[in-house]
Amino acid sequence: GKVAVVFGGSSAERAISLLSGSAVFEALTDAGVDCIKLDPAEQSLALLKSESVDRVFLALHGPNGEDGVIQGYLKTLDIPFTGSNVSSSAITMNKLYTKQIWQQSNLPTAGYRVVKRNPPFTEKEARMLFAKQGPVLFVKPANEGSSVGMSKVRTPEELVSAVSLAHQYDDIALVENFISGKEYTVAILGNRALPSICMQTPREFYDYIAKYESTTTQYFCPSGLSEEDELKIRHLALNAFDAVGCSGWGRVDFIREGDKGDFFLLEINTIPGMTKSSLVPKAAQAAGMNFQQLVLAILDTSFE
Ligand code: DAL
Ligand code: MG
Repeated sequence: GKVAVVFGGSSAERAISLLSGSAVFEALTDAGVDCIKLDPAEQSLALLKSESVDRVFLALHGPNGEDGVIQGYLKTLDIPFTGSNVSSSAITMNKLYTKQIWQQSNLPTAGYRVVKRNPPFTEKEARMLFAKQGPVLFVKPANEGSSVGMSKVRTPEELVSAVSLAHQYDDIALVENFISGKEYTVAILGNRALPSICMQTPREFYDYIAKYESTTTQYFCPSGLSEEDELKIRHLALNAFDAVGCSGWGRVDFIREGDKGDFFLLEINTIPGMTKSSLVPKAAQAAGMNFQQLVLAILDTSFE
């Protein structure tokens, strides 16, 4: 049957999605799959029907692509798609709801405070929050990807600007306790966790620049964890994925406190990046799968 790679879109992660979608399209075409590309920011999704598309490979990132909106639309058309269903996509796009479910499931995630857009966040509240949660805090919009709108702050003044930056992307900002340590990620393919990756950057944190632009970011896969810790992180990843009902494929991000401390869950990406520098292809490589094999394996999960 015919496959459509849906990519691009209009979220803040459009640029990444264009790269992910092009790489996926190229791999599918090389593998002889009959496929078209569709960018909902420029073309009508009605093409899915007029072109008699049988399956969709979703390569959109961020709101409207990764949050259940397009998944619901495809469901009404009865077209199978890659990745998680409507509700799991919606939940995991929202870091607040994701954390709430993990907490209910006794899964480890950093402590946080919710700061809504209204009433406006004051300098006084910032000072109080600092006294409680400081000396370093992390601020994120509840609904974004690729570290867009995120800041690491060390003073109440910085906190006020960071909250207002996060509110440019979402009505809800999360102010998280900062956990100092290395970042790890675990890719999920079907019901299997792939080898973990450790990301290290000389920057303040693994931000948008460290992810896509910097040449100083280092990736370790195998990640250097002991056999026991590797089993632990993969197990946590599968449980975290399962707790929010995710399926197909995805990527679970972690931070580890100190060198030997606990793992904390950061978030789930239900449509992780598939660019040349992206993480899931690196994990797949370590599991003996090249990019094309990975793309075909992901496409297969749309049958389930
Ligand atoms: N949100 C980006 C695309 C990622 O997680 O890879
Ligand atoms: Mg993300």
